[in-house]
Amino acid sequence: APARAARIAERLPERADPDALNACTRCPLFCNATQAVPGEGPSDARVMIVGEQPGDQEDLAGRPFVGPAGQLFDQIAGEAGLERSSAYVTNAVKHFKFTPRGKRRIHQRPNISEVQACKWWLDAEIAQVRPGLIVAMGSTAAQSLTGCGAGLKARQGQIEQTPEGTPVLITWHPSYLLRLADASGRMEATNEMRRDLTIAAQYQQ
Ligand code: URA
Repeated sequence: APARAARIAERLPERADPDALNACTRCPLFCNATQAVPGEGPSDARVMIVGEQPGDQEDLAGRPFVGPAGQLFDQIAGEAGLERSSAYVTNAVKHFKFTPRGKRRIHQRPNISEVQACKWWLDAEIAQVRPGLIVAMGSTAAQSLTGCGAGLKARQGQIEQTPEGTPVLITWHPSYLLRLADASGRMEATNEMRRDLTIAAQYQQ
Protein backbone atom coordinates (compact mmCIF):
# COMPACT_ATOMS: atom_id res chain seq x y z
CA ALA A 1 0.00 0.00 0.00
CA PRO A 2 2.79 2.55 0.72
CA ALA A 3 4.29 1.85 -2.72
CA ARG A 4 0.88 2.35 -4.28
CA ALA A 5 0.41 5.61 -2.41
CA ALA A 6 3.83 6.77 -3.59
CA ARG A 7 2.92 5.97 -7.19
CA ILE A 8 -0.31 7.91 -6.88
CA ALA A 9 1.57 10.79 -5.28
CA GLU A 10 3.98 10.78 -8.23
CA ARG A 11 0.96 10.69 -10.57
CA LEU A 12 2.26 7.60 -12.34
CA PRO A 13 -0.33 5.99 -14.60
CA GLU A 14 -2.04 3.02 -13.05
CA ARG A 15 -1.42 0.93 -16.15
CA ALA A 16 2.31 0.62 -15.37
CA ASP A 17 1.59 -0.63 -11.84
CA PRO A 18 4.03 -3.50 -11.06
CA ASP A 19 1.24 -5.52 -9.40
CA ALA A 20 -0.84 -5.21 -12.55
CA LEU A 21 2.20 -6.19 -14.62
CA ASN A 22 2.70 -9.28 -12.50
CA ALA A 23 -0.91 -10.28 -13.17
CA CYS A 24 -0.49 -9.81 -16.93
CA THR A 25 -1.83 -12.55 -19.21
CA ARG A 26 -1.52 -10.68 -22.51
CA CYS A 27 0.75 -13.45 -23.86
CA PRO A 28 1.45 -17.02 -22.65
CA LEU A 29 4.87 -16.29 -21.11
CA PHE A 30 3.38 -15.66 -17.66
CA CYS A 31 2.64 -19.40 -17.36
CA ASN A 32 6.20 -20.58 -16.75
CA ALA A 33 8.03 -17.51 -15.46
CA THR A 34 8.52 -16.98 -11.71
CA GLN A 35 7.34 -13.38 -11.89
CA ALA A 36 7.19 -10.39 -14.20
CA VAL A 37 10.25 -8.16 -14.04
CA PRO A 38 9.29 -4.47 -14.20
CA GLY A 39 11.69 -1.74 -15.18
CA GLU A 40 13.51 0.13 -12.43
CA GLY A 41 14.91 3.59 -12.01
CA PRO A 42 13.79 7.16 -11.45
CA SER A 43 10.46 8.04 -13.09
CA ASP A 44 12.10 11.23 -14.39
CA ALA A 45 15.21 9.52 -15.84
CA ARG A 46 16.55 11.21 -18.96
CA VAL A 47 17.91 7.96 -20.38
CA MET A 48 16.01 4.68 -20.69
CA ILE A 49 17.89 1.42 -21.30
CA VAL A 50 15.92 -1.40 -22.95
CA GLY A 51 17.08 -5.03 -23.14
CA GLU A 52 15.29 -8.10 -24.49
CA GLN A 53 13.73 -9.98 -21.58
CA PRO A 54 14.70 -11.08 -18.07
CA GLY A 55 17.18 -13.95 -17.88
CA ASP A 56 17.32 -16.78 -15.36
CA GLN A 57 18.66 -14.64 -12.51
CA GLU A 58 16.40 -11.67 -13.26
CA ASP A 59 13.38 -13.99 -13.25
CA LEU A 60 14.30 -15.13 -9.72
CA ALA A 61 15.33 -11.70 -8.40
CA GLY A 62 12.48 -9.72 -9.98
CA ARG A 63 14.96 -7.07 -11.15
CA PRO A 64 16.36 -6.37 -14.64
CA PHE A 65 20.00 -6.91 -15.59
CA VAL A 66 21.35 -8.47 -12.40
CA GLY A 67 22.89 -11.61 -14.00
CA PRO A 68 25.98 -12.00 -16.23
CA ALA A 69 24.64 -9.69 -18.98
CA GLY A 70 23.79 -7.11 -16.34
CA GLN A 71 27.28 -7.29 -14.86
CA LEU A 72 28.84 -6.73 -18.27
CA PHE A 73 26.42 -3.86 -18.90
CA ASP A 74 27.35 -2.30 -15.54
CA GLN A 75 31.04 -2.56 -16.40
CA ILE A 76 30.76 -0.99 -19.85
CA ALA A 77 28.32 1.68 -18.62
CA GLY A 78 30.76 2.55 -15.81
CA GLU A 79 33.61 2.90 -18.29
CA ALA A 80 31.39 5.08 -20.50
CA GLY A 81 30.39 7.38 -17.63
CA LEU A 82 26.74 6.33 -17.88
CA GLU A 83 25.18 6.30 -14.42
CA ARG A 84 22.92 3.27 -14.18
CA SER A 85 21.27 4.48 -10.97
CA SER A 86 19.96 7.60 -12.67
CA ALA A 87 18.81 5.71 -15.79
CA TYR A 88 15.56 3.75 -16.15
CA VAL A 89 16.44 0.13 -16.99
CA THR A 90 13.86 -2.20 -18.49
CA ASN A 91 13.18 -4.91 -21.08
CA ALA A 92 11.06 -5.24 -24.24
CA VAL A 93 9.46 -8.36 -22.75
CA LYS A 94 8.79 -8.62 -19.02
CA HIS A 95 8.61 -12.41 -18.49
CA PHE A 96 11.49 -14.90 -18.89
CA LYS A 97 11.04 -17.30 -21.82
CA PHE A 98 13.01 -20.53 -21.52
CA THR A 99 13.10 -24.25 -22.17
CA PRO A 100 14.08 -26.54 -19.28
CA ARG A 101 17.19 -28.64 -19.88
CA GLY A 102 17.90 -30.78 -16.83
CA LYS A 103 18.18 -28.37 -13.93
CA ARG A 104 18.98 -25.45 -16.21
CA ARG A 105 16.60 -23.06 -17.90
CA ILE A 106 17.80 -22.15 -21.37
CA HIS A 107 16.90 -18.67 -22.66
CA GLN A 108 14.65 -18.57 -25.71
CA ARG A 109 14.10 -15.53 -27.87
CA PRO A 110 10.64 -14.02 -27.56
CA ASN A 111 8.67 -14.17 -30.81
CA ILE A 112 7.12 -11.18 -32.54
CA SER A 113 3.66 -11.67 -31.04
CA GLU A 114 5.13 -11.83 -27.51
CA VAL A 115 7.13 -8.67 -28.19
CA GLN A 116 4.05 -6.92 -29.56
CA ALA A 117 1.87 -8.05 -26.62
CA CYS A 118 4.42 -6.65 -24.17
CA LYS A 119 4.85 -3.37 -26.07
CA TRP A 120 1.82 -2.14 -24.11
CA TRP A 121 3.92 -2.18 -20.93
CA LEU A 122 6.98 -0.68 -22.56
CA ASP A 123 4.81 2.12 -23.97
CA ALA A 124 3.41 2.73 -20.46
CA GLU A 125 6.95 3.03 -19.10
CA ILE A 126 7.96 5.43 -21.88
CA ALA A 127 4.83 7.52 -21.23
CA GLN A 128 5.71 7.67 -17.51
CA VAL A 129 9.40 8.42 -17.81
CA ARG A 130 9.39 10.45 -21.04
CA PRO A 131 13.13 9.91 -21.58
CA GLY A 132 15.18 12.14 -23.86
CA LEU A 133 16.98 9.09 -25.23
CA ILE A 134 16.22 5.38 -25.29
CA VAL A 135 19.09 2.93 -25.71
CA ALA A 136 17.95 -0.24 -27.50
CA MET A 137 20.31 -3.09 -26.64
CA GLY A 138 19.97 -5.83 -29.26
CA SER A 139 17.54 -6.55 -32.06
CA THR A 140 14.47 -7.39 -29.94
CA ALA A 141 14.55 -4.00 -28.22
CA ALA A 142 15.35 -2.24 -31.51
CA GLN A 143 12.43 -3.93 -33.23
CA SER A 144 9.99 -3.26 -30.41
CA LEU A 145 10.94 0.41 -30.14
CA THR A 146 11.28 1.35 -33.82
CA GLY A 147 9.09 -1.25 -35.53
CA CYS A 148 12.05 -2.07 -37.79
CA GLY A 149 13.27 -5.66 -37.62
CA ALA A 150 16.38 -5.23 -39.81
CA GLY A 151 19.63 -6.76 -38.53
CA LEU A 152 21.76 -4.84 -36.05
CA LYS A 153 25.03 -4.83 -38.03
CA ALA A 154 23.92 -1.89 -40.20
CA ARG A 155 22.19 -0.09 -37.34
CA GLN A 156 24.53 -0.26 -34.33
CA GLY A 157 25.69 3.22 -33.32
CA GLN A 158 22.84 4.97 -35.18
CA ILE A 159 20.10 7.04 -33.62
CA GLU A 160 16.65 6.07 -34.91
CA GLN A 161 13.24 7.05 -33.51
CA THR A 162 10.13 5.60 -31.95
CA PRO A 163 6.96 6.29 -34.00
CA GLU A 164 6.26 9.04 -31.42
CA GLY A 165 9.63 10.68 -32.15
CA THR A 166 11.78 9.73 -29.15
CA PRO A 167 15.41 9.14 -30.24
CA VAL A 168 16.51 5.49 -30.03
CA LEU A 169 20.23 4.73 -29.97
CA ILE A 170 20.88 1.22 -31.26
CA THR A 171 23.64 -0.80 -29.63
CA TRP A 172 24.71 -4.39 -29.05
CA HIS A 173 23.14 -6.52 -26.35
CA PRO A 174 25.68 -7.45 -23.65
CA SER A 175 24.72 -11.14 -24.04
CA TYR A 176 25.78 -10.88 -27.68
CA LEU A 177 29.21 -9.70 -26.54
CA LEU A 178 29.39 -12.61 -24.07
CA ARG A 179 28.60 -15.07 -26.88
CA LEU A 180 31.30 -13.79 -29.26
CA ALA A 181 33.97 -16.48 -29.26
CA ASP A 182 36.61 -14.51 -31.14
CA ALA A 183 38.53 -12.31 -28.68
CA SER A 184 39.32 -9.51 -31.13
CA GLY A 185 35.75 -9.44 -32.42
CA ARG A 186 34.51 -9.24 -28.87
CA MET A 187 36.89 -6.42 -28.03
CA GLU A 188 35.81 -4.48 -31.12
CA ALA A 189 32.09 -4.87 -30.34
CA THR A 190 32.75 -3.95 -26.69
CA ASN A 191 34.50 -0.78 -27.83
CA GLU A 192 31.54 0.03 -30.07
CA MET A 193 29.10 -0.46 -27.21
CA ARG A 194 31.23 1.68 -24.90
CA ARG A 195 31.23 4.45 -27.52
CA ASP A 196 27.43 4.20 -27.80
CA LEU A 197 26.98 4.39 -24.03
CA THR A 198 29.30 7.42 -23.93
CA ILE A 199 26.84 9.16 -26.24
CA ALA A 200 23.96 8.06 -24.01
CA ALA A 201 25.80 9.47 -20.98
CA GLN A 202 25.75 12.91 -22.60
CA TYR A 203 21.94 12.81 -22.46
CA GLN A 204 22.16 12.42 -18.66
CA GLN A 205 23.94 15.77 -18.29
N1 URA B 1 19.10 -9.82 -20.69
C1 URA B 1 18.16 -8.88 -20.93
O1 URA B 1 17.86 -8.55 -22.06
N2 URA B 1 17.56 -8.33 -19.89
C2 URA B 1 17.82 -8.65 -18.63
O2 URA B 1 17.20 -8.08 -17.74
C3 URA B 1 18.82 -9.62 -18.41
C4 URA B 1 19.42 -10.21 -19.44
